[in-house]
Amino acid sequence: MKNIAIIGTGYVGLVTGVGLSEFGNKVICTDINQSKINNLNSGKVPIYEPGLEELIKKNINSERLFFSSDIASSLKKSEVIIIAVGTPQSKGGAADLRYVFDVVDRILENLNSYKVIVTKSTVPIGTGNKVITQLQRKYEENIDFDYVSNPEFLREGSAVKDFLWPDRVIIGTKGEKALQIMCDIYRPLYINKNPIQHTSVETSEMIKYASNSFLALKISYINEIANLCETVEADVHDVAIAMGKDGRISDKFLHPGPGFGGSCFPKDLEALLSLSQEHNVTMETLQAAIKANKNQKERIGEKLDRLISGGIRGKKIAILGLAFKANTDDVRESSSIDLIKFILNQGGFVNAYDPIANKNMAKIFNNIHYYDNVYDAINEVDALVIMTEWNEFRSLDLNRIKKSMRNNYVLDTRNIVNMKDLSALEFVYDNIGRLKI
Ligand code: NAD
Ligand code: UGA
Repeated sequence: MKNIAIIGTGYVGLVTGVGLSEFGNKVICTDINQSKINNLNSGKVPIYEPGLEELIKKNINSERLFFSSDIASSLKKSEVIIIAVGTPQSKGGAADLRYVFDVVDRILENLNSYKVIVTKSTVPIGTGNKVITQLQRKYEENIDFDYVSNPEFLREGSAVKDFLWPDRVIIGTKGEKALQIMCDIYRPLYINKNPIQHTSVETSEMIKYASNSFLALKISYINEIANLCETVEADVHDVAIAMGKDGRISDKFLHPGPGFGGSCFPKDLEALLSLSQEHNVTMETLQAAIKANKNQKERIGEKLDRLISGGIRGKKIAILGLAFKANTDDVRESSSIDLIKFILNQGGFVNAYDPIANKNMAKIFNNIHYYDNVYDAINEVDALVIMTEWNEFRSLDLNRIKKSMRNNYVLDTRNIVNMKDLSALEFVYDNIGRLKI
């Protein structure tokens, strides 16, 4: 059991704090956002994440999980410090590291005993070295520390599960003592199998970017295959299933859709590209994945415009799904944003519905109508577009929908609605790369 301070209680910091307390450690989650900490202390969880609230309650009751805005005293009390602040995209594409280095300054002011300083934020390769150099100013005063890169691979929507049962835990460090301590904090994980892989700091940093970029590349690839399927009368669904049966390819991340979004893939690909350019290394695949994703997002609006007789102008369109993927209320870089902009620019009108992300989208668009259920949103619309693969959209009452819509156009960008049913009800429909029935 270790005393751990998490700096930055966002998606990653909160889930990490909760997960490590569940593993038996004593964790203080800190943040500069006082109201976030106040809310957590009064039982309000700032993000939607299945299973998180229950686990927070459980570990607060077991006195292993605490929330504090007193970062200085939390740092002093803890042997392990985990940096989990944001690393957003800066104007030129590179990762903006100002929050990470702000935290390093705070750590410097409060180094009172040996610490393991861990970066969990996604940071460009070489950042660890810069952090170590900055920290060594204090090291000269004989206060000892070790540095660890421990990137996080959780997905939004399944973050708790991903943290508690990870495929791998990367520990990038030179320090033997730090490696031991890190293994201790993750101890419950290797009762059955050992997911821990020890690497250098730089390799660990690279593993994170290489993994995210590869997944994004896979999505862009299947999206382009789907687009070609549409013109050569092949069915991408069957293609992906068959490809996935080859263990070298795997069936994961082969779902075509409206383009990848979220707070990570888009910015991480840009950051890696920017780093490669800084080092004069050409990465054509990365550039292609980014470009293909931009094209895919634009393609959705164009597809809709082609589908509706007479185009989007003057038409009322229901968008079902605003979150960038299912099981989250996060709309950052969601393809729905691009589609809404496109429809409004074309002179169309938008009715929007998402089971939990309406509120977040309303911060971006206040000139569209939001509804609390599908059937109100589709009333009297010309077209409906499924943008997020929420389970409730897999079993829509198409009969009821047909009667309520004023026209009959359906664009299913997640390929989740049964095409036979759409045909039987005489909807005019389109999707991504499927052979129409
Ligand atoms: P987030 O924006 O949800 O949270 C960051 C938090 O850090 C905020 O609450 C902010 O108030 C706080 N903060 C900023 N500066 C601070 C400071 N000086 N001291 C204390 N707190 C401070 O970000 P996130 O989504 O949790 O991402 C964090 C990092 O983890 C990023 O590098 C991201 O790329 C990476 N990551 C994210 C995910 C994900 O699914 N969201 C998954 C893996 C890795
Ligand atoms: C992604 C990675 O999957 C995590 O491993 C990583 O930790 C995280 O980024 C991060 O670094 O932040 P996340 O962005 O939460 O996680 O969500 P994903 O499930 O990866 O989906 C990303 C986007 O790709 C979504 O828009 C999703 O709809 C899209 N996607 C995903 C597809 O279009 N097709 C697929 O087959 C899979």
